Amino acid sequence: MNSTPTHIPVLLTECLDILAPALERSNAVYVDGTLGLGGHTEAVLRRFPTVTAIGVDRDTEALAHAGARLAEFGDRFRGVHTTYDKIPFALAESGFHAADGILLDLGVSSMQLDQADRGFAYAQDAPLDMRMNQTTGVTAADILATYSEHDLIRIFRTYGEEKLAPRYARAILAARAEAPIERSGRLVEILNDATPYALRNSGHPAKRVFQALRIEVNEELDILRDAIVSALDSLAVGGRLAVLSYHSLEDRVVKTEFAARTSSRAPVGLPVEPASMKAEFRLLFNGARTASAEEIGYNSRAASVKFRAIERVEASQ
Ligand SMILES: C[S@@+](CC[C@H](N)C(=O)[O-])C[C@H]1O[C@@H](n2cnc3c(N)ncnc32)[C@H](O)[C@@H]1O
Repeated sequence: MNSTPTHIPVLLTECLDILAPALERSNAVYVDGTLGLGGHTEAVLRRFPTVTAIGVDRDTEALAHAGARLAEFGDRFRGVHTTYDKIPFALAESGFHAADGILLDLGVSSMQLDQADRGFAYAQDAPLDMRMNQTTGVTAADILATYSEHDLIRIFRTYGEEKLAPRYARAILAARAEAPIERSGRLVEILNDATPYALRNSGHPAKRVFQALRIEVNEELDILRDAIVSALDSLAVGGRLAVLSYHSLEDRVVKTEFAARTSSRAPVGLPVEPASMKAEFRLLFNGARTASAEEIGYNSRAASVKFRAIERVEASQ
């Protein structure tokens, strides 16, 4: 385990401010669905002295680091090893049935990116693992060894929005016929060789393919859809959910689920909206907020963030 991993929490003040009306209620319950190194959670525990925080992460190393960092808060912090679509389970484990505030700060942590041996970073040669939960599931190397050309094209296009998907998939099939593709350095080489000269200066050729593999390995978008639904279902009336996403595919999932839950469920044209069909949620602001130039200046991770937040206004029917 890396002894001093670091991760600067993104939009920290904005997250705390938007959750404040919910977390200032007495004995409020906060769920951090993406605990990571516990940066957001530590700030919540300090600012809201009666809050109990439940920290969820699928990565046991992140949980261990955050657990040590938050030990001073004793019983006010509880870590749960699971995925963030299991928020109701994490709450029940700790004896609660609803949350007042929930945060989802999506994607990989700086610690995961910095750990060369986990294979997330195309800039460092390492085994192609990419599992956030290293105790189970297929690795990126497994996908490169077993997926058909058609499936590789599908994931590079869908999760990487990669225009050269067919070209890269063909290059991978040709390379794996000679030897298994097991290291990130080898994959970068294959992608570089398959990129036409004219396109070699338009960003790193491996960036979108690595993103696509990471999303596929960790089933990120499917889990995210379920996570937003389970987080919304877990909120008490007046409870708030804040989500930080880092690429357009994630943000689209969040935006779509928020739009569905903030719309009236009454059929169009009904003269009076029945109370049971009123929207259960309201958006706390329109659109997605981004980070300031100042924050991006000291934390490059903030450059792509999209921040959305929602509040439960009606009990679930
Ligand atoms: C960006 S980091 C969170 C950083 C944290 N906010 C902080 O300030 O330290 C995202 C974390 O979410 C975790 N994660 C990603 N997908 C997950 C999932 N489906 N379920 C639970 N945790 C997940 C990752 O393992 C990672 O530790």
